[in-house]
Amino acid sequence: MSAAGSVREQLATFWNKRYQDPEYAYGTEPNDFLVAQAASLPAGARILCLADGEGRNSVWLARQGHKVSTVDIAERGRDKALKLAREAGVTIEARVGDVTAFDPGSGCWDAIVSIFLHLPPEPRRALHERCAQALRPGGVFIYEAYAGGQLGRGTGGPREAALLPELEELLDDWPGCAIEQCFNGERMIREGALHQGIGVVNQIVARRNP
Ligand SMILES: C[S@@+](CC[C@H](N)C(=O)[O-])C[C@H]1O[C@@H](n2cnc3c(N)ncnc32)[C@H](O)[C@@H]1O
Repeated sequence: MSAAGSVREQLATFWNKRYQDPEYAYGTEPNDFLVAQAASLPAGARILCLADGEGRNSVWLARQGHKVSTVDIAERGRDKALKLAREAGVTIEARVGDVTAFDPGSGCWDAIVSIFLHLPPEPRRALHERCAQALRPGGVFIYEAYAGGQLGRGTGGPREAALLPELEELLDDWPGCAIEQCFNGERMIREGALHQGIGVVNQIVARRNP
């Protein structure tokens, strides 16, 4: 197996283990920042949710009438997302895959959503660059994840500094897009058992130039 292949296997094993309980690790309610941003999406938007986990965000977007596709490395997450969708009476297209090797296409999404996906700097930048290309003109990238200041807080997120960027490191990630909104700071997060308490986050909305 190649080095990339074995890292992928380890990641999938880690996340599949996390999702083995019937409980939803981050709850079944959507992320607050996504909900606030979704208010300005066009009706029936075509949306890609990166690293969608157990489906709380994709299923909520589908319930709002959007056409939602997802990708996540964890098969168990995908299966729980499909269960959540069935229970909500909506459809999502959910695939298992590594976002760092994923081709999101070109000019085809009204929105791409990345909520609490923490990647090392190089694959993160490469993914964001591909996603910038994959948005239709006027489409938006909606991003929230823990930031550098979260290290050691114990309220959620990874324990590796390399996975927790500062806001300034992110701002050039989406070529051909304007940063419409950005925030770095504390906010109260209540998402399942694993995101609980005041966290330090980066939030970004990047819009592809017309
Ligand atoms: C903290 S969870 C967040 C899940 C979801 N976005 C949410 O907000 O509920 C991080 C997710 O990233 C996924 N993930 C991590 N690295 C990935 C990769 N390289 N490719 C695809 N998914 C990945 C994990 O499987 C996990 O579901």
